[in-house]
Amino acid sequence: MSKLLNWIDDRLPVINAFEKHMSKYYAPKNFNFWYFFGSLALLVLVNQLVTGIWLTMSYNPSAEGAFASVEYIMRDVEWGWLLRYLHSTGASAFFAVVYLHMFRGMLYGSYQKPRELVWIFGMAIYLVLMAEAFMGYLLPWGQMSYWGAQVIVNLFGAIPVIGEDLSLWIRGDYLISGITLNRFFALHVIALPLVLVALVVLHILALHEVGSNNPLGVDIKKHKDENGIPRDGIPFHPYYTVHDLLGVAVFLFVFCIIVFFFPEMGGYFLEKPNFEPANSLKTPEHIAPVWYFTPFYAMLRAVTVDLFGLSAKFWGVVVMGAAIAVLFVLPWLDRSRVKALRYKGWASKIGIVVFAIVFVILGVCGVLAPGAQPSWLAPLCTALYFGYFILMPVFTSMEKTKQVPERVTG
Ligand code: HEM
Repeated sequence: MSKLLNWIDDRLPVINAFEKHMSKYYAPKNFNFWYFFGSLALLVLVNQLVTGIWLTMSYNPSAEGAFASVEYIMRDVEWGWLLRYLHSTGASAFFAVVYLHMFRGMLYGSYQKPRELVWIFGMAIYLVLMAEAFMGYLLPWGQMSYWGAQVIVNLFGAIPVIGEDLSLWIRGDYLISGITLNRFFALHVIALPLVLVALVVLHILALHEVGSNNPLGVDIKKHKDENGIPRDGIPFHPYYTVHDLLGVAVFLFVFCIIVFFFPEMGGYFLEKPNFEPANSLKTPEHIAPVWYFTPFYAMLRAVTVDLFGLSAKFWGVVVMGAAIAVLFVLPWLDRSRVKALRYKGWASKIGIVVFAIVFVILGVCGVLAPGAQPSWLAPLCTALYFGYFILMPVFTSMEKTKQVPERVTG
């Protein structure tokens, strides 16, 4: 076995790669609960790829056959129901895990220098993930698949001058049709997963170049022993591989309960109208995206006034785009001298709590019909969301911070 390994290693440095990224990658010894979500995101990514490949074997990407082929998978294909529920629940799990992973980054200032690129690659992953989920949702060709896609693709029509042509180009037809389904299928099963995997590789390579942050924001590379090993670091393998297995076990426990007992999650993971085949002549009463898009959908709908001769719909699209764009520049909005929230001042602490609360409220607003919520709520939360980011350079540079310890303690 070792001979074979050496033979391979002479031609392809696998041992070197394993050491660089696992057994000799020194991670801070104080990782906590929040550090489970990176490896969990990897696990869910693999789940989506594997179940997706098997679903593709029985799925029929045509307007005539798509809905029936999903029913066929659910009823006749051996273990097809399990493959589908693993994939549909996996989509929601992916966003849950990624949102917690991003929030960890915000709590500990992991996006700050020198990890700006890690964050930018992360944001690119998030964008591609949204496109991937949106296109995947059209594939079952149910009522919500159809009308959800109709609403979102029509948004591009709000862009002045080129909008109408652009949405026509995306659809490939005047309405969402089998042509749209075909191209979304191609993008969902091959193009976007390739991009996603490439971005994840870059994300991790960029992280391993500079090393991981930690809940204290202490730079462990400042104190090295005589062999050049950080004194507060431990090898990723075996310490964190075993540590992450705990996260995997707890995650799989919750994930399996949902897959086996609540796969529709009361209509939040698989929406009720999607059990009816797509019908271009019948609009569902209330069109709402899946829960992970609803904070941004609420911001889109929060804008109701025409301005400067441009429609409210256009400004809604601008606000929604800006809500995502502002996250890209987060490393340059935070001017704090310290990384971790615990050493920042009160303004940062209050700010992040407000941000988290308004993000959840916006998520709820996006699920509800416009008439079922106070009309001021989503606009107020949208203003607070942007206020947090716009004021960040001010409060992070002015507030009093606490002294960060030299070494990882406790
Ligand atoms: C497919 C999705 C993703 C995967 C598989 C993934 C994977 C990972 C892994 C394995 C780590 C190292 C372990 C850890 O620190 O938890 C990591 C770290 C990190 N990720 Fe991601 N990630 C994903 C998405 C994102 C997104 C969307 C963002 C933010 C926009 C992001 C930002 C970060 C940051 C800032 C770190 C460094 C954290 C630190 O050192 O404190 N990641 N990621």
